Amino acid sequence: MENVHILNHPLIQHKLAILRNKNTGVKEFRELVSEIAGLMCYEATRNLPTEEVQVETPLTTATCRVLAGKKLAIVPILRAGLGMVDSMVDLIPSAKIGHIGLYRDPETHKPVEYYCKLPEDVGNRQVFVVDPMLATGGSAVAAISFLKEHGCKQIIMMNIIACPEGVQAVREAHPDVEIYVAGMDEKLNENAYILPGLGDAGDRIFGTK
Ligand code: PRP
Ligand code: URA
Repeated sequence: MENVHILNHPLIQHKLAILRNKNTGVKEFRELVSEIAGLMCYEATRNLPTEEVQVETPLTTATCRVLAGKKLAIVPILRAGLGMVDSMVDLIPSAKIGHIGLYRDPETHKPVEYYCKLPEDVGNRQVFVVDPMLATGGSAVAAISFLKEHGCKQIIMMNIIACPEGVQAVREAHPDVEIYVAGMDEKLNENAYILPGLGDAGDRIFGTK
């Protein structure tokens, strides 16, 4: 599928199998979300532009490459997206971080916005929107629309688990956005939860159920 990258790296798949297990406890779940996000970040940043620089080593001059182009921003969709931020910041320490707070109304499954704080210059940055779950796609579509209203033009989305319904919704609303996922699941159930999925990501990260 165009614009959708399924990351079937063995380390990611192994960690995802443990993450899905209902017997995996809060501590391990949180660690795995973070580790998977770090590995996904490595893949999702693969095409960032670089430029040549000369570096003086203790012995001679080395021709090296460093990141070029736009600066980066990481934007988690609260709450569950927070679990993916730390490992990404470890890899990209200069990235700025924005927050978009959305929750799904339990009846309508539509996203409800409750918080938003973005870096002032977010419109000039390459943005990585992160959220472990892409279910109906309502939250992702709303978050990306919001970022575009703030001038963002280069947006990559990272989800640990997605399903066809969510991917289609994002592709229809935002065909310019590249989507990186670790697992592409089968479908949604009647409560708009992903099957087989991993349950409620926010509750499992924060231990709220
Ligand atoms: C979950 C998840 C996504 C959203 C996905 O968050 O983290 O943000 O649902 O569903 P959608 O694709 O149908 O919009 P939730 O609303 O449960 O909030 P939480 O992270 O605060 O638990
Ligand atoms: N949000 C979750 O946390 N899990 C799902 O399966 C769907 C939405």
